[in-house]
Amino acid sequence: MCGIVGYVGRGEVVEVLLRGLRGLEYRGYDSSGIAVHDGRELVVVKRAGRIANLERALEGTSLCGDAGIGHTRWATHGVATDENAHPFLSSGGTFAVVHNGIVANYRELASALSARGVTLSSDTDSEVIAHLMESRYEGDVLAAIRSAVAELRGSYALAVLSACEPGVVYGIRRDSPLVVGKGRDGYFLCSDVSGIFDLCDEYCPLRNGEIVRLTAAGAELFGADGVRRPLCFLAEREDACEKGEKAGDRMLAEIREIPRSLCLGYDDFPREEIRSLLSEPWEDLLLLGCGSAYHAGLVCKGALREICGVEARAEIASEFLTSEPLVGPRTLAIVLSQSGETADTLRAAERVKSRGGRLLSICNVRSSSLVRSSDHVIVTRCGRECAVAATKSYCAQVQALLLFCLEYSDIKGKMASDKIAFLRRELAALPEKAAEVVAEEGRFVRLAGELKEAKAVFYLGRGLDYAAAREGSLKLKEVSYLFSEAYPSGELKHGTLALMERGVYGVIVATNPALYEKNAATIAEISCRGATPIVIAPPSLVSRYSVERSLPLPECPPLFSPILSAITMQLLAYHTAKARGCDPDRPRNLAKSVTVE
Ligand code: AGP
Repeated sequence: MCGIVGYVGRGEVVEVLLRGLRGLEYRGYDSSGIAVHDGRELVVVKRAGRIANLERALEGTSLCGDAGIGHTRWATHGVATDENAHPFLSSGGTFAVVHNGIVANYRELASALSARGVTLSSDTDSEVIAHLMESRYEGDVLAAIRSAVAELRGSYALAVLSACEPGVVYGIRRDSPLVVGKGRDGYFLCSDVSGIFDLCDEYCPLRNGEIVRLTAAGAELFGADGVRRPLCFLAEREDACEKGEKAGDRMLAEIREIPRSLCLGYDDFPREEIRSLLSEPWEDLLLLGCGSAYHAGLVCKGALREICGVEARAEIASEFLTSEPLVGPRTLAIVLSQSGETADTLRAAERVKSRGGRLLSICNVRSSSLVRSSDHVIVTRCGRECAVAATKSYCAQVQALLLFCLEYSDIKGKMASDKIAFLRRELAALPEKAAEVVAEEGRFVRLAGELKEAKAVFYLGRGLDYAAAREGSLKLKEVSYLFSEAYPSGELKHGTLALMERGVYGVIVATNPALYEKNAATIAEISCRGATPIVIAPPSLVSRYSVERSLPLPECPPLFSPILSAITMQLLAYHTAKARGCDPDRPRNLAKSVTVE
């Protein structure tokens, strides 16, 4: 939810910290700040609002040093003000701390500190950590840090500076991600590699309880038991599609990268490993995720029913956690997550494992907590996704799931081999069709000019098209702030039809020829009540629906249309956001990776 960064080295520490924070801004942007050891003392500069406010505050200062930490915040406790921004300085100026996570017992800790005469300066939970470290300091910084975090309940990733140790940055984590980076002229700490992407070539994810001590000369790692251990740096970088066309916005650039990422995803699908996994006698397939990842699971649920004759469960991770899970040794949980750090999803995955289930994760970040805790992994190859709205990662997840379903259908003998071969060829050809959708961007601008004034936008569909509609509605909501709801078309007449009137739009995802009559009826139902239909369908169906507004899709098997219709609805959402003057990359109130429950 928040982004933290640390640096020690020969570089210009303030500039390096700001670059790291800009790379992490997608994790939250309510406030930001840095702390630097300037050779004499710890200096903290922090401001509410975007990182640009911090940069303005730093202009003209001569702040410099060789070690520093930084933070960009998504507020959980305490509104976004300068005082509530991180870093926090301990009352005696001994420690400066930045924190990502939640201190569940901060009220008790704050009371105990106040009782000892410590004055708290913010409304946050994180501030207590700095004061705790100072209260535990008896000459050994590492021991004081370890002693202080032992008092914390909840999750944390911390970067720490001490006035007593110039040129040193400490990092420690529990249940919030933290990565050590090795650069050409120094060492880094970061919430994830994207913040230090172009600053270092190797990185090592920290495990829970480990503490790292960084100096310009090197990095020392201590296990939860306090014993020193080697740091194993990974050299791999996840930028398969990073060098996509650079548009004005990251979201548009990432949509444009979808065709290329689908090519990589098809080529890199671990077919033999998945076939071997699926050959085991699974009795229960459980799809888990949040937001767009959950919607990808809904598509997979429909595809498993259609081509494998299997009734899988698709559950929202946070809902899954509300009751005793129905999971056993014959449960294969397919856990979906772009970031691999979503707290609800990680907790749900842990719950499955604790009940003897097996985890197959489909994730976009190889170094993530989810990947490290999974039994089997499909790493999507769409490269770093920075815009808050999931676009290429959603399409990559759906593609991986459809490939998974094809293998499962083949193994279970549910489809003739020539039909499976046909579908494999069609899926292999999908990137070219995705490129056609992306190329037709102009038509979205015109429609967005209308949608921007809509009273409400309903996304309607049946079967797989309804699963796709769920994702389309989320996209519009999260980047344009328009009210939208996805609804099963056939269910409209049971109440929601009352909302259809002039000014209301219905985006009808209608790609399945077998449902033509039903979809035509839905178009008529909403039109005769004054609402405006927009049909998403292949040209052969659009002409038969005879509507004024449509977004034709390239012809493809209905099973694969959720990928193409997703791109269409992503572009519609993006252009509607721009028409409404919204920032599609950094939508209000949201963060790219929600690492608290
Ligand atoms: C989707 O556009 C949103 N950014 C959000 O719903 C997201 O899909 C959800 O938070 C899950 O994130 P994850 O895939 O990183 O786990």
